[in-house]
Amino acid sequence: MTQRVAILISGGGSNMLALVASMTGDHPARPVLVAANDPAAAGLARAAAGGIATAAVDHRAYGDRADFEAALHAVLAEARPDILCLAGFMRILTPDFIARWEGRMLNIHPSLLPKYKGLHTHARALAAGDTEHGCTVHEVTAALDDGPILGQARLRVTAQDTAETLAARVLPLEHRLYPAVLRRFVEGERGMLTLA
Ligand code: GAR
Repeated sequence: MTQRVAILISGGGSNMLALVASMTGDHPARPVLVAANDPAAAGLARAAAGGIATAAVDHRAYGDRADFEAALHAVLAEARPDILCLAGFMRILTPDFIARWEGRMLNIHPSLLPKYKGLHTHARALAAGDTEHGCTVHEVTAALDDGPILGQARLRVTAQDTAETLAARVLPLEHRLYPAVLRRFVEGERGMLTLA
């Protein structure tokens, strides 16, 4: 049976677009909702332009994280997704929210986890003198950027790289990795995918 996928974003949504573009033809899933915690997230308009249902749940409108998540959950419940993909979603979710989606929620992170959980991953990889860098798709568990790793894509860091060039070089890898991992995940594959 076709799986229903909801995607959570906070910004431009380039990973979301890559996921949406992949879910066509014989793909076993379809996008049913793109939701953002910021009504101004550019990805919302991009998703709507592609005919995908969208929703904004502005985190600033809620007194605390639990209220925000209750509103987000209500929007998701209406869309009835089987799988939730975080794609540049920059809010930390509570263990309660995560528990409701555990085993069904994926995230993409711009580092080779377990290195550089959290923010400023490209600058931190450079500061550490890493010769390899990349991105990771993992299952979301209660600990930040810490769930089982489903896939990684790597590149060689050059002497000329800056945090900006690394971000620009990693992003296209993200666009290849996330759709590939999602498809495998929908098909029940939990082994780790490595893209060169
Ligand atoms: C991506 O690089 C993604 O890996 C990162 O935000 C960017 C979103 O870009 N996510 C995180 O840092 C999550 N901690 P996009 O909106 O164009 O997909």
